[in-house]
Amino acid sequence: MNMSITEKEVLDFTQKTKHYKIAIHPQSDRMYHITIEKTAFEAFFEKIKNIEVQELEYIPYTRFIVSNALQETLGEAFTKTVQSILQDRQTGGFTIGLDEDITDTDQYVLFSTALTHLIGECNFDAMSGKYYARFKVKHTDESDSYLRQAYRLFTFHTDGTFVDESTDWLLMMKMQERNAVGGESRLLHLDDWEELDKFYNHPFASKEITYKAPASKNVNQDVKRKTFFHHNNEPCICFIDQFANPASIEEAKYLRDLSKSMEEDKHVVELDLPVGHLVMVNNLFWLHGRAAFEKNEELDRELLRQRGRFQQ
Ligand SMILES: [Fe+2]
Repeated sequence: MNMSITEKEVLDFTQKTKHYKIAIHPQSDRMYHITIEKTAFEAFFEKIKNIEVQELEYIPYTRFIVSNALQETLGEAFTKTVQSILQDRQTGGFTIGLDEDITDTDQYVLFSTALTHLIGECNFDAMSGKYYARFKVKHTDESDSYLRQAYRLFTFHTDGTFVDESTDWLLMMKMQERNAVGGESRLLHLDDWEELDKFYNHPFASKEITYKAPASKNVNQDVKRKTFFHHNNEPCICFIDQFANPASIEEAKYLRDLSKSMEEDKHVVELDLPVGHLVMVNNLFWLHGRAAFEKNEELDRELLRQRGRFQQ
C-alpha cells in the first residue's frame, strides 16, 4: 500500500465534517452515486494498514473493525445515509467508485467489506466458501450455470433464491476488466416494471416454487419460495429462472412470461461500472442481470460479490 499520510493527518482529517458527496446517478434517478474524497480513502486505508484480506476471511470480527474505520473516517451520518438509501423503496441503490489511483484488489475487498458491514452481516457464500466471492468471466466456461457464460444474456433475477436465509442486499464490485465489450450489469427496480401488476396479481404470485442449486453452488437443500412476498407492506420478488422448478405447464408459462416481460421492459438500466466501482442494491425489490459480452478470446473480467442481511 502506497500511502503517505501521517497519523496526525488522519486525526485532523477525521475531525473535519464531510468527505463525500451524494448525487442522483447519471444513468438512473432511482439510484445515487456517492463520491468519496481521495484524502478520505487515504485516511481509511491508513487506519486499517495492518489488516489483511485473509484476516477478514478467518476472523469475522475484523470485518466490523474495518467497517468501524470507515465510519470513523466518514462519520456516522455516512452510515445512516447508506443504510437509509438501501432501505428506501424509492431508490434502494447506489454506486461508489474508489479513487482511480487505487488499483490493488485487496483494497477493493477491504473497502467493500467495510461498506457492507455498515449495513449488516454478510451471508456465507457457499460457492466460494467465504463471506464474499470473486468470480471471472472468460471466453470459455466449464461451469454449470450462466454466471460465468460470457456470450449469453444472464437474465433478471434476485440473489439467494436457493438458500433459506434472507438476502436483503447485494454488492457487486468490478475487480478487473480486459478486452471486454458489453457485459453491463442490467438492473430493474420492481416499481419501474410496467407489467408488475399483471404478475403480482396472478394466482401463482404467492404459490411456492421449489428452488434447487446446481452443484457449483455447494448448496444441497431445496428451498420453497413464493415469487412475490411482502416487506414493509410493499411487494418484493424472489426469482431466478435457472434454479426455479415449476410443478406444472401453467407454472412454467407463468415464470417464462414473467422473465420475458422483465427483459423487455423499457426501464431496464444498463449500468456502466468501471474497474474499482461497486453497485449496492436492495435485493428484495431490485432485479439484476448481465448483458452478453462481445466475443473475444482474451476476455477477462472479474467481479466481487457480497450479499447479506440488514442489521436487526
Ligand atoms: Fe446474481
